[in-house]
Amino acid sequence: MGKKLALERIIHNQGFGARKLCRLMIWNQEVTVNGQVCDDPDAEFDLEKLHYTVKGEPWDYREQSYLMMHKPSHYECSHKTQHHPTIYSLLPQPLVLRDVQCIGRLDEDTTGLILISDDGQFIHRMSSPKHKVPKVYEVTCKHPVSDAQISHLCQGVQLIDEDAPIAALSCTRINEHVLHMTLAEGKYHQVKRMVAAISNRVDALKRIQIGELVLPADLAPGQWRWLSETDMKHLGALPA
Ligand code: URA
Repeated sequence: MGKKLALERIIHNQGFGARKLCRLMIWNQEVTVNGQVCDDPDAEFDLEKLHYTVKGEPWDYREQSYLMMHKPSHYECSHKTQHHPTIYSLLPQPLVLRDVQCIGRLDEDTTGLILISDDGQFIHRMSSPKHKVPKVYEVTCKHPVSDAQISHLCQGVQLIDEDAPIAALSCTRINEHVLHMTLAEGKYHQVKRMVAAISNRVDALKRIQIGELVLPADLAPGQWRWLSETDMKHLGALPA
């Protein structure tokens, strides 16, 4: 038997609002647990394999949230956005109330794989420069990319405000204009600045992989999903 908690606390800590509101929803019979309506806020439930619904929407109990999103263009990776909607508006409200954060930011016009969580340790591990989790970008360049430009990216380019040259871990030409570029760091506008440093320009940028986790082909822009155990292993966040 796992840890037990009162229903009101469960619904509250899963992000369904203030304790008072959660109690009201339970009294109003808007919450079911493991298939049955429960209108007692103090009823205790085992948290392991707990399935519940709130206002008809099904949820699994999760101690912490780990998810991936296919970030669409024209969304900002910030809770307080300036010019575009926030990527958090693409998530269900309870997740936002759990204070999930994206791990590293993508520019407003960059698309692709982004991780989101409310687990501070996981966020730190994935974003810390010490761990150097590699990220792969599909880079569409304005001008055809020469062999010399590719070697330059792999040998290192000097960016303004950086002490030492920064090199791509690898750089593969997919066609005349498209590269797959792997970076160990996540510096501000890093891909765009590196491509500018080889006298080219980024026309489109998409992150297609983090660690060994590849952006799933069936995850459309704007969609999100929970990270599975296999995904976590691909991120190096669980023993392989
Ligand atoms: N590098 C960039 O220039 N922009 C991004 O959004 C991510 C990496």
